[in-house]
Amino acid sequence: MAKKFHIRTFGCQMNEHDSERLAGMLVADGMEPTENLESADVVVLNTCCIRENADNKLYGTLGHLATTKAENPGMQIAVTGCLSQKDRGGVLDRAGWVDVVVGTHNLGSTAGLLRKAVTDGPQVEILDAPDPDGDLDPSLALHAVREASHTAWMTIQTGCDNTCAYCIVPAVRGGEISRPLDDLVREAEMLARRGVREITLLGQNVNSYGRDITKRSPMFAQLLRAVGDVDGIDRIRFTSPHPKDLRPDTVAAMAEVDAVCNQLHLPLQAGSNRVLSAMRRGYTAERYLEKLAMARAAVPDLGVTTDIIVGFPGETEADFERTLEVAAEAEFDSAFTFIFSPRPGTAAADLSDQFIDPEIVSDRFARLDTVVQRAGLIKHEARVGMVERVLVEGPSRRNSEVAAARTTQGKLVHYQPSDARALQAGALVDVKIVHGAPHHLDGEQLALVETTKVRRRLEVRS
Ligand code: SAH
Ligand code: SF4
Ligand code: F3S
Repeated sequence: MAKKFHIRTFGCQMNEHDSERLAGMLVADGMEPTENLESADVVVLNTCCIRENADNKLYGTLGHLATTKAENPGMQIAVTGCLSQKDRGGVLDRAGWVDVVVGTHNLGSTAGLLRKAVTDGPQVEILDAPDPDGDLDPSLALHAVREASHTAWMTIQTGCDNTCAYCIVPAVRGGEISRPLDDLVREAEMLARRGVREITLLGQNVNSYGRDITKRSPMFAQLLRAVGDVDGIDRIRFTSPHPKDLRPDTVAAMAEVDAVCNQLHLPLQAGSNRVLSAMRRGYTAERYLEKLAMARAAVPDLGVTTDIIVGFPGETEADFERTLEVAAEAEFDSAFTFIFSPRPGTAAADLSDQFIDPEIVSDRFARLDTVVQRAGLIKHEARVGMVERVLVEGPSRRNSEVAAARTTQGKLVHYQPSDARALQAGALVDVKIVHGAPHHLDGEQLALVETTKVRRRLEVRS
């Protein structure tokens, strides 16, 4: 009987996509996915270490798994991803019941190591640089096990060449490596042939995509245009672009390529220039706002989201107030807000003499949250009365009779579908927005524009 595996993913979209690809590799190795962790023969934890609570979550989960494994001694546990890359063999020191530890550069080794561990005991394989044989081949992405059939992630670049003082990502994911443009276009074409309509391009700094290929200027704008030319791909999103590298050619491509969505996630991190400089972000608040204005001028009705860190070492009340001011001026649709967490090996972790009192930080965090939530609600309420074309995700999680769909700005819309076709993932529907809530919109369905099935039938006929 085929072994059953269960993957639990922590962290960002890149990790989610790595998990999909790993699932594809395990299936190719003869295993079967299962939703049920307790009955799995192999449990994979694909980990994150961006903040300390990500570490704590993983070791907490491993603690629970010790009991599960005691009841089911045949179970194997693999720990993959960023936290493995950081802690290496240390994972086994803290959780001796783990069977396999694999880092960020060799996901493709997991299946083989699981087999080896059965006879030879625990296996730790961490590489210091990406596996030259790579596991980003387009055909592997094609075999990825995806939850949804109409949307897909595509990793365009791994690693990061920046040196943000708080961030552990470059230490665990290594330097930037861009995948060849032709491979990416081929992958997008294969995905489109399988019914994928929306692609989200992933990288730590997508704006610098291709800089390592040309040794000169980035090719991100070129990539947007090339993926935009792929038949059947109606929507392109990307995350994250670094503000310092957002260039006019990228903004022009966003404006000119129909498929590129009206959505920009532009991480601000802080509003005070002193803090931005200590963070080594490479821009001032004024420059950030200029870049944002450039994007908004070119792409009308752009939805803008951001990341902000509160409590960076040395952040004064005045610095924090500047963050509130800049956030208000930027008029974000929403923001992911984080409390600074010192990460081992990063420059900011050495500034312990400037760490901020946790009570002050949580007070600032709450104040920022209030400002951000209010701004988001105003944006949502302003959309009432507008007609938006949405891409259906399927039934909403809370009520299976209500459809959940995304606008071009990436906002979630709920509406009552006219029939089963208007509830089908991948359908395009026009809705009129009737209500704006803090985290979603409610709409009324107008026309059903087209469904994936209709499109496929048309393709067969032509
Ligand atoms: N490459 C992406 C960010 C990836 S990490 C980019 O530059 O946009 C996602 C977010 O986590 C960051 O934007 C930052 O806001 C937050 N973050 C990263 N390291 C952190 C730390 N040590 N403490 C708190 N938040 C952090
Ligand atoms: Fe981290 Fe900065 Fe790179 Fe983003 S750009 S991954 S925040 S070092
Ligand atoms: Fe976490 Fe690694 Fe992503 S540290 S945020 S999973 S790149």
